[in-house]
Amino acid sequence: MSYKTTTSPAPLDQAFDIIRRAGPAKAREGIRVLVARDVDIAEGARLIVEPRPGLSVGVFRIDGSLRAIKNVCPHNGAPLCRGTLHASHEPGETREFHPGLVGRVLRCPWHGWEFDVVTGKALYDAKSRVATYPVEVDDGSVYVVL
Ligand code: FES
Repeated sequence: MSYKTTTSPAPLDQAFDIIRRAGPAKAREGIRVLVARDVDIAEGARLIVEPRPGLSVGVFRIDGSLRAIKNVCPHNGAPLCRGTLHASHEPGETREFHPGLVGRVLRCPWHGWEFDVVTGKALYDAKSRVATYPVEVDDGSVYVVL
């Protein structure tokens, strides 16, 4: 009996590669909306804001930077930004634990799907993502750029 070997990366490796290569959030309309004061969002904390009627966005401070992600889970529409923040396990040798994406994995409060707050990418499916928005801080005021 022979076993086939493969050199293609495992799905988990591919998912982390895609997350690492993702660029910064892009503005769609270029509209800057004041949502908070900089001092209102401590490290590891979040604010859920409504930059326009019907659009809910979570603004998180992660590693000193402010990140904004749409507050809707693509699975069933849960308020994603009410979920908990975690790390993930990066691929590694058997029996080794490599924490990755520390403090930026947002777990949906309804069924547990996970997303990277920085890129919006899903951890379970490299093709799935949640919209992210640039955040600007100007003279102590926080703006989400739509
Ligand atoms: S609604 Fe988010 S995982 Fe189901």
